[in-house]
Amino acid sequence: MNDNLHQLRCFGCGTRADGAITSPDFRCSVCGDLFEVEYPGWGQRKGPDRPNAGALKWLWRERRCSSESLDHSGVWRFRELLPILESFGNAVTLREGNTPLYHLPRAAKALGIDQLFAKHQGMNPTGSFKDTGMTTALSVAKERGFEWVACASTGNTSAAMAAYAARAGLRSLVVIPEGKIAWGKLAQAMDYGAVTCQVKTDFDGCVRVLTQVVKEAHIYLLNSVNPYRLEGQKTPAFEIAEAFDWNVPDHLIVPGGNLANSSALGKGFREMHELGLTHRMPRISVIQAEGANPLVRSLANNQGATLEPMEAQTRATAIRIGNPASWRKAARVVQETGGWCQDVSEAEIAIAKAELGSEGLGCEPASAVTLAGLKKLCAKGAVAPGETVVLLLTGHTLKDADYTIDFHRGTLLNDEEKVGLETKIDSLRRNAQVVDATADAVLAAVKGSVG
Ligand code: F0G
Repeated sequence: MNDNLHQLRCFGCGTRADGAITSPDFRCSVCGDLFEVEYPGWGQRKGPDRPNAGALKWLWRERRCSSESLDHSGVWRFRELLPILESFGNAVTLREGNTPLYHLPRAAKALGIDQLFAKHQGMNPTGSFKDTGMTTALSVAKERGFEWVACASTGNTSAAMAAYAARAGLRSLVVIPEGKIAWGKLAQAMDYGAVTCQVKTDFDGCVRVLTQVVKEAHIYLLNSVNPYRLEGQKTPAFEIAEAFDWNVPDHLIVPGGNLANSSALGKGFREMHELGLTHRMPRISVIQAEGANPLVRSLANNQGATLEPMEAQTRATAIRIGNPASWRKAARVVQETGGWCQDVSEAEIAIAKAELGSEGLGCEPASAVTLAGLKKLCAKGAVAPGETVVLLLTGHTLKDADYTIDFHRGTLLNDEEKVGLETKIDSLRRNAQVVDATADAVLAAVKGSVG
């Protein structure tokens, strides 16, 4: 048994709620804002509920050699900072987390910074960072006896939810925008047995429809408005700090869509700092696509006081979101850490993705916005050469193979989008060639690629 120490607190008005009795759409009944999980015992300087920083660091490292199945999860390995279940025996895990942190020497050199890394969350079991949040929130659903779970998604959340629901023996309902998600992700939801509705609208429309559905049926909502999702998604912050021997990097760069991930990582770094596990917070910057940049506009126009929803357009379909649910939380993270919110063009995303690929790190277009954004921040002088920077890569390259092939075939971007970048784009394109079945023909192809 676990001493369940948590409660929910409204991010907007501070109203406290019991997690078991919040409304089905996880909105505060007083002000309509979202909840956050909080752990009141941690506020005390000393006391039985306050985790001991030194002991935790030792314990979490030891668990990497443990034969206990829960210890193999890079999320539940940190379970002392996840007291959200009555019993950890209810945890549903696919051995998520423990993802690699790669050095990016070529990109670092090109940008003139000393230390650049990529934390590759696409190396999770279903190929995206969503697994870290799904293991926690779906475990809560299972513990509370739900038979059905549901989400609206641009693809990755639905793939993760369907997989974890299948593992737990729960039924799942996926609501996705018709024609606006990558096929690999739709295939995953189907493979894992979800009831999959392609709805004739965009992501924001899917959220509207599903919110109505969960109010009418006993279905547990697993969108990132569910605060237990963010608890799992905060754990990559612990992994990053651990990898740097608890000296946090100077700067973390995260893609922004519905803006839960940046919020979750900010919470993870904040909690570590408050508990004395680390001595400071990194700057956290959020990067959006130019055609789906409501947070960039909000921070530029009114310091994040309000957010104007927009109709979103970008080929990085994972972040094609115009009315992000967690924007207030993300705005606070950017502001409190001294980070930036930056947008990048379609061509900049495609170039950054190909550059990451040429360092052996495939990723989704939505992940590549981080490198594209870093370039812009470096050009503005917002990143000093001596800083240590971590890019958060959120999804696996095979999630959206069509995008990659279209880029290399030269059919992804139109002429207007390429203006001024044609030479760069041509230098990165690697078109597959059709050749005769002879060694000479293959060798000619090799020769042709040199110089
Ligand atoms: N990168 C990828 C690959 C994503 O799938 C998402 C979001 C993001 C970045 C943005 O993260 O929403 O927390 O700001 N995908 C969601 C989904 C919305 O339904 O799969 P965020």
